[in-house]
Amino acid sequence: MYKISELAQKVNLSRTTLLYYEKLGLISSKRQANGYRSYSEFDLQRVKLLQQLQAGGLSLKECQACLEAKINRAQLLQRLQTLDEDIAQKQKSRELLSSMLGMSSMRDWHQTTDKHAPSAHLDWLMTQGFSETQALRLKWLSKDMNNHEQYMREFEFIFDGLDRLGPSSTDDSIKALSSIAVKTGELLEIGCGKGVTTIALAEHTQFAITGLDNDEYNLSCLKEHLAQQLPPLDHSLPQIELICASMTDMPFSEQQFDVIWSEGSAYIMGIKQALESWKRFIKPEGYLVVSDLVWLTDSPDDEVQQFWLDAYPEMATVASRQQMIEDASYQVIDSYTLNQASWDNYLLPLQQKANQLADHVFVSPALADLQKELTIHSKYLGQYGYQMFVLKLRN
Ligand SMILES: C[S@@+](CC[C@H](N)C(=O)[O-])C[C@H]1O[C@@H](n2cnc3c(N)ncnc32)[C@H](O)[C@@H]1O
Repeated sequence: MYKISELAQKVNLSRTTLLYYEKLGLISSKRQANGYRSYSEFDLQRVKLLQQLQAGGLSLKECQACLEAKINRAQLLQRLQTLDEDIAQKQKSRELLSSMLGMSSMRDWHQTTDKHAPSAHLDWLMTQGFSETQALRLKWLSKDMNNHEQYMREFEFIFDGLDRLGPSSTDDSIKALSSIAVKTGELLEIGCGKGVTTIALAEHTQFAITGLDNDEYNLSCLKEHLAQQLPPLDHSLPQIELICASMTDMPFSEQQFDVIWSEGSAYIMGIKQALESWKRFIKPEGYLVVSDLVWLTDSPDDEVQQFWLDAYPEMATVASRQQMIEDASYQVIDSYTLNQASWDNYLLPLQQKANQLADHVFVSPALADLQKELTIHSKYLGQYGYQMFVLKLRN
């Protein structure tokens, strides 16, 4: 027989807890002559059995039910399911903490956060010490703050020597030029990259051209191309000024440009924001030429739909882009899907480079991402495409 203090010590519980168990009828004491409670070996084992059941995550009430009647399987199954959900949630919390401490990839977290709270995500990245340029690259390219620098080094290595950073062709650019009524004045190209379009525009127009990009290296490649392609003494060719700045914060005067041009770059800050924030730099009745990746079908295959949902969640159909454009006070002058040559100009050299690197056993997440994208293009291009929009600012 055990006194309550002895039983409490043996099962490592307080007196109060044992008295509560007794009140619930889980154990029962006998009164000794001196009035003290005494418990039997059976009571000791009942408490130990109860503790074993509690270790399975059962509540006291559920334990009592198990002690008093046959095990209720449905109830236990329900408990197991709740426990599995708790474990999965805790595992997620663990993964997040370990990734924030740099112990694993943060890709899924960045991607999900960017889908649900893109502006707050970008802002938070800058709070963590990333510049706007880095934060935007992280959003679109590396998608992982723990591996950002290494990823970008590998990404730049892959693109080294490739001039086109997105689908485009001189024919498609000239087609857009032909629907613009103004033929002279100032033209700003945003996200000009290594200048394939800048040079085509210079060769086919009389505009004074400003090329803007936030990547010094891309601009240095463009300078080199210009030095090779445009003899400085040929005064019939228009001037090109290059500016390294962000498309989100451009150092120009209000209504400075007759035309703003941006092929494959406006998505970086978001088409809607670009339409709004670039407007003030365009002269009244001036033009905006912008290209964007769009759905060309209302019912894409699951694989391609999922791919672009992760890679470009804002991707829209032509009709809904045009609605956004109208809502932003532009008139659509022309809109057409870039031709196959525009894609070939971009994809063929990129595919060749990716194959070469893979042959040299270059293993990198940046290459793996590009190869995945190339596979999607080869399987599904046509369900989506690049759309050129020639827009005129409404009064
Ligand atoms: C997909 S590439 C397109 C480049 C070029 N238009 C072409 O078709 O080859 C996007 C370009 O935008 C530039 N870029 C990225 N973020 C930018 C920003 N915040 N401001 C200005 N340029 C940016 C990149 O450096 C890159 O040159």
